Amino acid sequence: MGRLILYAGNSNLPLAREIAHRAGSRLSEATVESFPDGETRVRLEESVRGADVFIIQSICPPANHHLMELLLMIDAARRASAKRVTAIIPYYAYARQEKKLTGREPISAKLVANLIATAGADRVLTVDLHSPAIEGFFDIPVDHLRSAPIMADYLRELGLSNLVVVSPDVGGVKRANRLRQFLDAKASLAVVFKERPEEPTAPAILGMVGEVEGKTALIIDDIIATGDTIIEAAEVLVNRGARKIYVCAVHPVFAPGAVENLLAAPIEKIVVTNTIPIPSGLGERMVVVDMAPLLAEAIRYIHEGRSMTTLFEKVEAEWRAERARS
Ligand code: R5P
Repeated sequence: MGRLILYAGNSNLPLAREIAHRAGSRLSEATVESFPDGETRVRLEESVRGADVFIIQSICPPANHHLMELLLMIDAARRASAKRVTAIIPYYAYARQEKKLTGREPISAKLVANLIATAGADRVLTVDLHSPAIEGFFDIPVDHLRSAPIMADYLRELGLSNLVVVSPDVGGVKRANRLRQFLDAKASLAVVFKERPEEPTAPAILGMVGEVEGKTALIIDDIIATGDTIIEAAEVLVNRGARKIYVCAVHPVFAPGAVENLLAAPIEKIVVTNTIPIPSGLGERMVVVDMAPLLAEAIRYIHEGRSMTTLFEKVEAEWRAERARS
């Protein structure tokens, strides 16, 4: 494979710079800005001919704008004769619409996958997709990194005991169980779910399966947008007698108003990753776990044509060794 070249769009430059630094490289110069009429203008300022090009871009808010930057950068690299183009997408948006819930709806997760492949990406590297099935929406290889071992490393430092790991919806049970296995195999598992009453206008009722009374509850979700899902789950847990509540969310999307809502919620700490720029306002209640080392290592593995399974096994082995030491 040719030289390793890293480019980044504007969505998360602090993370992109950190990845470049960890990968022993640098971000190549690019012009990524707007024309006066608002259209996106891209120019890769350094040659990519014959190179192994990685374009780092999270599709975080404003998602449409950042998606367009990504597509144009891929297209530019492809037309400038890059040997291979890998889209590094730490946060893959439009993922929550991965199936039709009613008639006449799009499947946005599939459309965005089509757009990325059509633009010219040869492969994709991403972190904690909303649903692992989205990998199959791409007709190009997808390497799907999970933050659970890294989250678990931090959470262990908190010394939480008598723990129950909670999924705030039925779709997230596997994610919660995976974190539970990394964190504390003795911890129990619970799930909060929505029940629709028979009368169509009546509000949904939140139910729960699992025992939380007197326990420390750790809610894990992939995304915090408005914060409603997490806050509703936290309230159910408090009502069922949970002693303390911690939250883990991979992608802190934080829609307007989310910080204020979360500040008022009965939550001790919110642990997120830096796949998208970190929202301010939560002070010490928020802890950020760095995904740059893992993403940089994954880039090196891809560039050197090494097996990604080996990387996943290495991460788990390091985590086990760390746990044995502590
Ligand atoms: C839903 O399926 C997702 O996993 C998250 O629970 C949801 O997107 C969070 O959104 P919000 O913070 O707006 O409730």
